[in-house]
Amino acid sequence: MNLTLVRGDGIGPEIVDSAVKVLDKIANKYKHKVSYTSVLAGGCAIDECGFPLPQSTIDACLRSDSVLLGAVGGPKWDTLPGHLRPERALLGIRKELGLYANIRPVKLYKALSGRCPLRNTESFDIVIVRELIGGMYFGKSGRAFGEMGEEAFDTETYSALEIERIGRTAFEYAKKRRKKVTSVDKANVLESSRLWREVMHRLSREYPDIEYGDMLVDNAAMQLIRNPMQFDVIVTSNMFGDILSDEASQLTGSIGLLPSASLGDSKRAMYEPIHGSAPDITGKGIANPIATILSVAMMLSFTFRLEDEAKEIEDAVEAVLDEGFLTNDIGGELTTDEITEKILEKI
Ligand code: IPM
Ligand code: MG
Repeated sequence: MNLTLVRGDGIGPEIVDSAVKVLDKIANKYKHKVSYTSVLAGGCAIDECGFPLPQSTIDACLRSDSVLLGAVGGPKWDTLPGHLRPERALLGIRKELGLYANIRPVKLYKALSGRCPLRNTESFDIVIVRELIGGMYFGKSGRAFGEMGEEAFDTETYSALEIERIGRTAFEYAKKRRKKVTSVDKANVLESSRLWREVMHRLSREYPDIEYGDMLVDNAAMQLIRNPMQFDVIVTSNMFGDILSDEASQLTGSIGLLPSASLGDSKRAMYEPIHGSAPDITGKGIANPIATILSVAMMLSFTFRLEDEAKEIEDAVEAVLDEGFLTNDIGGELTTDEITEKILEKI
């Protein structure tokens, strides 16, 4: 396995290092060879070379089998103009690698059911399939002067092809699960959402075994906290997926638990926690590494088809939580290193 590590900023390096320890142990146990190339992206790249995504970083990502990313961004770079912000690096890698499908599983661990803020909710298991390289985050944007003075604009554009490929990812994924897809849009207002809905409907006819429904995004935000158990696979646009996945993470107890896989048409993919760089706890050694460790499990499964290895990591995490070993964000006191040690002991 040829991996590129993008540790990034804030807690990024801390959680990536912890996930690498877990991967090394698994690789050792199952006799796989892993080689790592570390590259800069985000704020650290700005500090080092003046811009967030050096070409050498893109090249390294393109040369590797997969990318593991921590997080980018922080207050230090918040006043930079949009195209120079650390976040551009993340969007840039996703785009350069053609990673249009972001898979974000959201499930409630038994051990943490008490930390779910909803009463009477003991289990749910959702996968958010977020379109990742189109829509508002990549549309035309800019500043202008109009009748009301200074203006700024961002635009949401989706082609039928972009919608169809993310839709297909969702339907295929649902086949392996509870066979239900909910497409989230704002078709009562946005033209791009109306096309989104048309394409999803067309596609749903190709999948008669999958139960299909649409939901407006404002309703979906409400339904997620009213009854998360109703969802299996949610498919939605870049921006709506960004927002809804943070919302959904809170139902699991902490955003520090949620991994993600960003996939394209080739086997090469990127794996990263859904959370950010958490500047408030950076350097304290208390970040929860579980989201990144579970991202490694997704990598083993999705890119390398190593299902036993992936499962062993997932089981190790679950066992550690079951035994009550918890980091600060989920009501415990363990440091990043301590919980990593506990997970390593299970492998
Ligand atoms: C995420 C993050 C990123 C995004 C930011 C950091 C650009 O919020 O991965 O959800 O919006 O995609
Ligand atoms: Mg986000």
